[in-house]
Amino acid sequence: MDLVLLSGSGHPHLARAMAGRLGIERAHCDVSRFPDGELQVSVDPAMRGGDAYVLQPVGPPVDQNLIELLMLADACRRAGAVRVTALTPYLGYARQDRRTISGGALGLRVVGDLLRAAADRLVVVDPHTYAIEAALGIPLESLTAVPILAEAVRRPDPERVVIVAPDAGAIKLAERYAVLLRAPVAVVHKRRISGEAVRVIDVAGEVQDRIPVIIDDMISTGGTVEAAIGAILDRGCRTPVTVAATHGLFVGGALDRLSRLPVERIVVSDTLPMPSDRAAQIDVRSIASLLAVAVAKLHRDEPLGELAVYD
Ligand code: R5P
Repeated sequence: MDLVLLSGSGHPHLARAMAGRLGIERAHCDVSRFPDGELQVSVDPAMRGGDAYVLQPVGPPVDQNLIELLMLADACRRAGAVRVTALTPYLGYARQDRRTISGGALGLRVVGDLLRAAADRLVVVDPHTYAIEAALGIPLESLTAVPILAEAVRRPDPERVVIVAPDAGAIKLAERYAVLLRAPVAVVHKRRISGEAVRVIDVAGEVQDRIPVIIDDMISTGGTVEAAIGAILDRGCRTPVTVAATHGLFVGGALDRLSRLPVERIVVSDTLPMPSDRAAQIDVRSIASLLAVAVAKLHRDEPLGELAVYD
């Protein structure tokens, strides 16, 4: 069966780069809207018997990108693709893997039910937590951009560096950076007050006189990173600060917020499209080769080996 790569409108640049690495053309698909706003998609019927991969990060506008992914995957199946894999390097709703308020919905479970109805499996990059696999209920492969990002933030003086997890949820991610960069880890104990505001309770680990590399799975509003920077500077950390995250959502004025802080570098991967007018502020490292190699292996039914991460 042939490998078929399709791209939704969520990140055509990454899809083009992946197709280039794979040495194939992207399959044709149409995405349009009816006058009332309903989405209509169609895919090339020549994919019958193929092994289809639909690239569509579920980032802002999250619901729009999600429904487009679901419809493209469904169209592939109806066109006769033998297997449909959703490639969502960033998966929105992954933070809703549990109920955090009384009367809340389990958002990730809802998304998982929808994905399971449309696709056979899912590929993500550095998910918010590995617990998403249980809530999603669809076969999942998790890749990691950490080696790419760690290489980008590597310093010539590792003995002066501290890797900072800006909350307890980022500890395991921080440990993966720490192994690659041969540096210790410090952890900020944070409490979220609202969608944008967080409060720091304490910092565990030695940060005094060290040069910080703050890592996280994602930067959304920048509130978490801002709070972490305040806390570690109060405890004697040196500047400049480097920030590395797999997913750069940069919503709610995040880049303006970070530009007011002593941040020397913000390094993210291209799991999401970047705002072109802020290119000078962000160091973007591509995961196109990582995704292309993973897709080639999955297509040949080979194990992902060290490309995949488990908790
Ligand atoms: C939270 O648990 C995540 O790992 C990130 O720390 C968080 O989502 C970042 O959001 P923001 O940039 O809005 O603080």
